[in-house]
Amino acid sequence: MVKYVTTPIYYVNDVPHIGHAYTTILCDMFKRYQTLKGNECLLLTGTDEHGQKIENSAKSRNKTPKEYADEVSFKFQNLWNKFDIAYDYFVRTTNEAHDSGVKKAFEEMYKNGDIYKGHYEGNYCISCETFFTKRQLIDNRFCPDCKKETSPLKEESYFFRLSKYEKKLLDWYKENPNIIMPLHKRNEVIKFIEGGLSDLSITRSGFKWGVSLPPFIDDSRHIIYVWLDALLSYITPLGYGNDIPNKMYLFNDATHFVGKDILRFHAIYWPAFLMSLNLPLPKQIYAHGWWTIEGVKMSKSIGNVVNPDDIVNAYGLEVMRYFLIREVPFGQDGDFSHKALVDRANSDLSDTLGNLVNRLLGMSEKYFDLNLESESFDYLKNEIEQVSQIIKSLESYMINMMPHKYLEELWKIFDIANVSIAKYAPWEMMKSDKTDEVQALLVFISNILSKGALLLYPILPHTAREMMKCLKVDFSSYNKLIENDELLNKFSLTKIPPLFPKLEVQNISTAEEKSDLKDKVSIDQFSKLDIRVGRVIEALEVKNSNKLLMLKIDFGANVGVKQIVSGIAKYYSPNELQDMLVCAIINLKPTKLMGILSEGMVLSAEDSEGALRLISVDDIEAGSKVG
Ligand code: MSP
Repeated sequence: MVKYVTTPIYYVNDVPHIGHAYTTILCDMFKRYQTLKGNECLLLTGTDEHGQKIENSAKSRNKTPKEYADEVSFKFQNLWNKFDIAYDYFVRTTNEAHDSGVKKAFEEMYKNGDIYKGHYEGNYCISCETFFTKRQLIDNRFCPDCKKETSPLKEESYFFRLSKYEKKLLDWYKENPNIIMPLHKRNEVIKFIEGGLSDLSITRSGFKWGVSLPPFIDDSRHIIYVWLDALLSYITPLGYGNDIPNKMYLFNDATHFVGKDILRFHAIYWPAFLMSLNLPLPKQIYAHGWWTIEGVKMSKSIGNVVNPDDIVNAYGLEVMRYFLIREVPFGQDGDFSHKALVDRANSDLSDTLGNLVNRLLGMSEKYFDLNLESESFDYLKNEIEQVSQIIKSLESYMINMMPHKYLEELWKIFDIANVSIAKYAPWEMMKSDKTDEVQALLVFISNILSKGALLLYPILPHTAREMMKCLKVDFSSYNKLIENDELLNKFSLTKIPPLFPKLEVQNISTAEEKSDLKDKVSIDQFSKLDIRVGRVIEALEVKNSNKLLMLKIDFGANVGVKQIVSGIAKYYSPNELQDMLVCAIINLKPTKLMGILSEGMVLSAEDSEGALRLISVDDIEAGSKVG
């Protein structure tokens, strides 16, 4: 059966970052692994372009939502092209065909009795585009997922009868225990369903940027909720509800990769929608963890967003792919740091793999003019057996989505090759005329590298191809070398440039740092400063410092609460600051003062004696922009 794998479709209110690259590379790896095994697999990615968040972002840039979406969607597509992501579909939720598919699905659900009109009363988080009931919120106000402030929302809405699918979903998970991986994530989902599912509000009426309801309902006040719209993007490019040639059969074997933050949408809402539409359910949902950057959550307001293109330009595409997949067990959170990336590349890619290829080429050229032939592997039988055992174990790591372990084990075959060179010392054997044994060793190593190249293809496609060119093997050898565990006895090698020269940590400035503030500032540069009014909700003295105060400042619905350390202790007591409206820059790079995280800078004026007075404003909402 043809397989189908999807990335989440990315919101266009954000430029591509390392988290997006991670999901996309995982899907690319999945597809290439299937291709290697001879299975056809199609990959979908795309952009999620509707919703209030995007309407707001466009407005703040004086663009129409479509202009803005076009711009960012192209950035995603260009980047995936540059990264050679083997995608087959790039869906945009603003495409006409998608629009018609969403309307069709709404109509079907309606006709199946799963949609009714009612009133929604609860809170809405614009950042997550998610509805919450009061009991789900933190302190009755804050979003349980992103912690930003939510807004109360009471409006007429159409509802999807999610509650009707509670039992069906639980039965489905019982009958198919391995759908969600890692397994502990499955338990979280089941617990959530067992806690009771309320019907889901699936329309919004406060703004316009979305898919309108199907004409037969004749209600132009509402647009379709962005998550219903977005999830359907997995099937509209396959011809669901539009006139794109029908390939819905692909959905019989669908795998979704998602971040842990959006698992609920994929593991509860999406299968329920599909049940309502009488369509097949996904075969697999893989939920990955989140990347922090040098220990800090990645965020635009902190200014530490890692642009994957910068990483690729500094260290190379294959190094980034290897690091992202090898460094962190799938499903767990991981930390991205330049040092960790460089250390890993230098030890695994340069010292172990690159060096092995060099040594093979060097000795084969010196002793045998790059032409090797032998069948006398007897003295290497232990090593040959070890390599076979390792290779046999690899498939289960891919099936159970443990690609870091797949690589860890695969590297053991390269280690066996390096250790054999040290153990048998071919240069010594040559001195005592043991040419056959040396040739056997080099043929064995060429076999290890040939098998290794094929098995590396899903993760390092370009390196694999380069190695295959060097060894003159191709994908048609997969059955012989991997499935049948055979050895080739003849190699005619081609020299290739050294793989993975050693790397050094590069000093890459973030987008914010790149703007040159030393010179005069342009309006554009000035507008990059995010200065906001915030209300001090807590002020504390900092231990061992007579200068610093630690402030918790609420910057309103879109930003939330930030912690800022400020050198004003000599001029203000904590009590005086309570509830004061202050102005602060909130998109400075975070820093630590006396070991305490500071996420911005409170603005103050200095008098001729050097005393500081905070810049405050009268009676305006927290979160208001200054500038
Ligand atoms: N548009 C929705 C998805 C709709 S799918 C029908 C969305 N978009 S997103 O752009 O916000 O996120 C896309 C993916 O990026 C998610 O899987 C999310 O988990 C992932 N990541 C965003 N930040 C991340 C990290 N810091 N680390 C790893 N992945 C992260 O949600």
